[in-house]
Amino acid sequence: MTVDPSFRIAEIDKRLYGSFIEHLGRAVYTGIYQPGHPSADEDGFRKDVIDLVRELGVPIVRYPGGNFVSNFFWEDSVGPKENRKARLDLAWRTTDTNQFGIDEFQKWCKKADTDIMMAVNLGTRGTADALNLLEYCNLNTDTTYAKMRRANGHPEPYGIKTWCMGNEMDGPWQVGHKTAAEYGMLAAETAKAMKVMDDSLEFVMCGSSNIKMPTFPEWERVTLEEAYDYVDYVSLHQYYGNPAGDTADYLANTLDMETFLHTVECTIDYVKAKRRSTKQINLSFDEWNVWYHSMDKDNEKMAREPWDQHPALLEDNYNFEDALMVGLILITFLKHADRIRIACLAQLVNVIAPIMTDENGKAWRQTIFYPFYQASKYGRGIALECPLASGKHDTSGHTDVTDIDATAVYNEEKKEVTIFAVNRNMMETVELDCDLRAFGNSLRIGEHTEMAGYGINEVNSSADDRRVAPKPVADPADALSDGSYKTALKPLSWNVINFRIEK
Ligand code: AHR
Repeated sequence: MTVDPSFRIAEIDKRLYGSFIEHLGRAVYTGIYQPGHPSADEDGFRKDVIDLVRELGVPIVRYPGGNFVSNFFWEDSVGPKENRKARLDLAWRTTDTNQFGIDEFQKWCKKADTDIMMAVNLGTRGTADALNLLEYCNLNTDTTYAKMRRANGHPEPYGIKTWCMGNEMDGPWQVGHKTAAEYGMLAAETAKAMKVMDDSLEFVMCGSSNIKMPTFPEWERVTLEEAYDYVDYVSLHQYYGNPAGDTADYLANTLDMETFLHTVECTIDYVKAKRRSTKQINLSFDEWNVWYHSMDKDNEKMAREPWDQHPALLEDNYNFEDALMVGLILITFLKHADRIRIACLAQLVNVIAPIMTDENGKAWRQTIFYPFYQASKYGRGIALECPLASGKHDTSGHTDVTDIDATAVYNEEKKEVTIFAVNRNMMETVELDCDLRAFGNSLRIGEHTEMAGYGINEVNSSADDRRVAPKPVADPADALSDGSYKTALKPLSWNVINFRIEK
């Protein structure tokens, strides 16, 4: 592998480390909001959760859905709590009490040190309601909705910059699902009108819900031809799982992700060329993660016992191989940092999440918390193109899968460079031989950790959330001299190697 600071892909947008809170399961209620819990603050926000969110360093959180948003009536979620009406959530067949809404989320984000990425309902509602919501959130005029926010005790506008034009509108499961032409027109007209209120806003248009959608990538072409001039990002969503218990093939899934990214990038650029446009549209990978452990149980629950208030749903308990998968996805994102400007780990708390809460206990870290934490901590700065020659293997569904997937990030400000590497060879240790001569003799090895040696099904729990976690490598094979660095990457391992640049 060669790491050279002049091989720049792009400055990494910090929003690459975004996440997502949906009104789903226990994400909000008993997740981030639980009045009466010993760690709850004066607003009912769990401080133990806020501490972990701050530890993760999440710069932006998408809200309030997800599928939930497609029948969200935002007005129900604001104003005095005693007047708020409960409403059926058709996406997850539950009841939302609306005791937590837009104003509470804005306050929570301030405490969690993060920004809001707000989604509007383009399922059962449309342009007018999106405009009303924008006025409520961002304007200080003497008009109905700006006055309503002030009357609700929030004199200062929220200044929300990034807006999602609905959610997964290509999906037949979506309430208010549309054809590409219908949705493209609606997204364009809604963004156009919202821009009249504030032309500094950024808009994310729904791309395909996953790479296997039958309408992919025609959906992207048609919607972009309608909306190219008004939107700034196309969304991608993708979840992975290993229901067959085929680890090698599971960890090869980032090859499909590469195809997904490449195809969307090319489709955007095709429409750009066709329109003779100079405007560059980029990517918002605003839902990604592993999601499969809880699916059967959840489908059963929603079918048989609907309309509960915040039941436990999508509570995947992540194991070691899921952490490797998350690490591989983060490496893939860094390699596409020139086009992916936003990405949201779906989701943040309790629902397919790195952070879990016990209703009567503590908040704790899942296995996938750790690669995300380390990428968010060390993956800021310049994403580098790192030529890499690796052995390859085939899996049941993929060919030419590299044993090693790796990349590096150069942080000029902090004077450090960090290598992220996964060895997805299940049997063999691989020697990483890294050419760092471009940094001269100024490099010193800083922190070097690995997640390795665990059983693929090992998990964390509230009793022990550091059981599966990165550990410092005390490895005699670690050697740095004359710009050449060598180390051993254990089979099935996530490795973070940080170097300080000393002058
Ligand atoms: O994140 C869970 C769900 O997955 C979201 O609500 C939806 O957008 C996607 O299908």
